[in-house]
Amino acid sequence: MVSFRNHSRTHIEFGKGLNVIWGENGSGKTGVLEAIHSLSFGKSFRTNRHKELLKAEKDFLKIRGLFVKNGDKDVITLHQNKKGERRFHINKSPITGLKELMGENLVVVLSPEEQGVTKGPPANRRQFFDKIFSVISKEYIETLVQYHRILKQRNAALIKARDNKASAEEIDIWDEPIGREALSLWRKRDALLAEYTKELTSVTKNFSTEETVRIEYSTPALNNENMKEHLRKNKKRDIVTGVTNFGPHRDDIKVLWKEKDVKKYGSQGEHKLSLVLMKLAELFYISKRTQQTPTLLLDDLFAKLDSGRSRKIVSLIKSFEKKAGHEIQTIITTTDLINLEKSGIKIENTETPTFHLKRICNA
Ligand SMILES: Nc1ncnc2c1ncn2[C@@H]1O[C@H](COP(=O)(O)OP(=O)(O)O)[C@@H](O)[C@H]1O
Ligand SMILES: [Mg+2]
Repeated sequence: MVSFRNHSRTHIEFGKGLNVIWGENGSGKTGVLEAIHSLSFGKSFRTNRHKELLKAEKDFLKIRGLFVKNGDKDVITLHQNKKGERRFHINKSPITGLKELMGENLVVVLSPEEQGVTKGPPANRRQFFDKIFSVISKEYIETLVQYHRILKQRNAALIKARDNKASAEEIDIWDEPIGREALSLWRKRDALLAEYTKELTSVTKNFSTEETVRIEYSTPALNNENMKEHLRKNKKRDIVTGVTNFGPHRDDIKVLWKEKDVKKYGSQGEHKLSLVLMKLAELFYISKRTQQTPTLLLDDLFAKLDSGRSRKIVSLIKSFEKKAGHEIQTIITTTDLINLEKSGIKIENTETPTFHLKRICNA
């Protein structure tokens, strides 16, 4: 990558199994994972503001990744200019939509920067699940994109009506399409969440019998009539606010820790552990559904977990590898290698590729 965050020019070749990036805070470890993630999902996991990614005082950034999958090699590149305009290529062909990147090279990232999934507003949890479901189901992402397209058009009509530039009837024409797509999205979300939940239950059970994490979700409208009724009831408010107040874009998916809403009652440790378990469930679920094991990006995982819990997590990952009969490509970042040893990850006398980042070199 070139001119990405604090990296001027960084080139790393990762091995198939465990890889370690170590270096002091601010040396650019998370940045490396962010770059990999950007080639997988078209965006960072740290920010939605692309401009932040460009190294200060530079004019463009470039990330190039070589991904090997079942012996096939794919080169994915991202170019971005100062204005934040971006272009992606897969094997030198430009892509037309981010949809094309989905599922090309799978990654699951676990980073303290993502704690918003359990701590933040409902949008963060929707995003968490939308991302997983978009990877495993083309129909899901298509419905999601289509729903948001119609939502945008309906919202534009609402704003016009609010400003007296359109009649209330002009909004009614959106009832049918938005209702149809909303129900379709809800049905898919509901079904996939049920599958994901099974995986989460099994991960949680293997982790501990007392510390349970569960997802709570129910769709608020179940059929066309029901949906129409909700739209009708909300119409006045929709016009006043200029946005659609009812639909899957407002879903709240709750995370329960020992049957209590973790967002409201969770301690720091409980937040962290819930996210870890949800992420492992994500990894196992995606593997099962796609028959491909994603690359696991573990950012500073062991920094704030006690060694008992980190050992347990490492052993869950190892038992998955054993069952699958192959290694999971894992990239771990850490400030010091001793943390890893404490968590039961041996790197001394192994062939684990380790990469050291120095703050000064990249500045
Ligand atoms: N656009 C940017 N241009 C230059 N430096 C940046 C940019 N964005 C972040 N940084 C710097 O890069 C460093 C962040 O690196 P990061 O990947 O978070 O390090 P680590 O994960 O090793 O702690 C910080 O010092 C931050 O100030
Ligand atoms: Mg970091």
